[in-house]
Amino acid sequence: MLSFQKSYIPDFLSPYDRMLIEGPASTGLTQRLSERIDEKVIEVERKKFPDGEIYVRLEGEVEGEDCVLIQTTYPNEGLIELFFLLDALRENGAGSVTTVVPYFGYGRQDKKFEEGEPISARAIARRIQLDSDLFYTVDIHSKIVMDYFDIDSVNLSAMPWLADHAKVHEPDLLISPDEGGIERVKRASQEIDVEWDYLQKKRINGETIELKPKKIGVEGKVVMILDDIISTGGTMTEAAKQLLEQGAEEVHAGATHGLFAEDALERLDNVCGSVFCTDTIEGEKSEVTIAPLLEEELF
Ligand code: R5P
Repeated sequence: MLSFQKSYIPDFLSPYDRMLIEGPASTGLTQRLSERIDEKVIEVERKKFPDGEIYVRLEGEVEGEDCVLIQTTYPNEGLIELFFLLDALRENGAGSVTTVVPYFGYGRQDKKFEEGEPISARAIARRIQLDSDLFYTVDIHSKIVMDYFDIDSVNLSAMPWLADHAKVHEPDLLISPDEGGIERVKRASQEIDVEWDYLQKKRINGETIELKPKKIGVEGKVVMILDDIISTGGTMTEAAKQLLEQGAEEVHAGATHGLFAEDALERLDNVCGSVFCTDTIEGEKSEVTIAPLLEEELF
């Protein structure tokens, strides 16, 4: 049984009579959520003009209603759809707007790394909050992004659900591929009572970087690597390869957000016993739904 603790619900939202707005990038998730709760779903008409521009329209009345818009911002078109839907909600008189962005794209550009760059995550946060009263996301890559919101904003964790799903492989060890993911892997480990560690990088020579768990040996163990994002799959593939070389019996890979750019899936399937993600981004490996997480936290 997973343990729940609501992160935050502001006073202005009544626990009753909210409407779900089914963002085009999160239709599956919105449906799964609506099957669990008794709230009206407003569908969205979405089409593309011959020149590629996007059209969206709310297919129901929202005037005076407390609306919960669910829309992931990947791929890029998801962002445009989100911005237009936020405008549509305000334009059509929504009483309040709670924006749920299950995967917050561009979260890795959370600061200016080089002169001349934008802070992309902040640019998106600024647009979202123009027309939102409350914001939720899931396993944001960098917590700095949450500070870019002046409205109340909540970063939820899907790690307990990933960990629960991972139990089927009976892992002996949960591993974060880097130090930055310690908090995530700790959270997962609390849920299923399995040891955790993270990979430390050591430069061996010009071409070789060794990845080794900081404290715990992997020999003969079933290892589960947990991360926030799989994009090119490079991080997971390299980690899995090295753990197998160090004697791990099996290595599995779980992440909240599965982007799977280019041939990421193929590369991962070659080394990992299994690969799974949540439905923050809908895809072949979305084996874990975050619908119960949204239900518990928002309703
Ligand atoms: C890095 O800090 C992130 O937590 C992920 O490990 C990274 O974004 C994964 O990217 P890729 O799959 O391209 O290695």
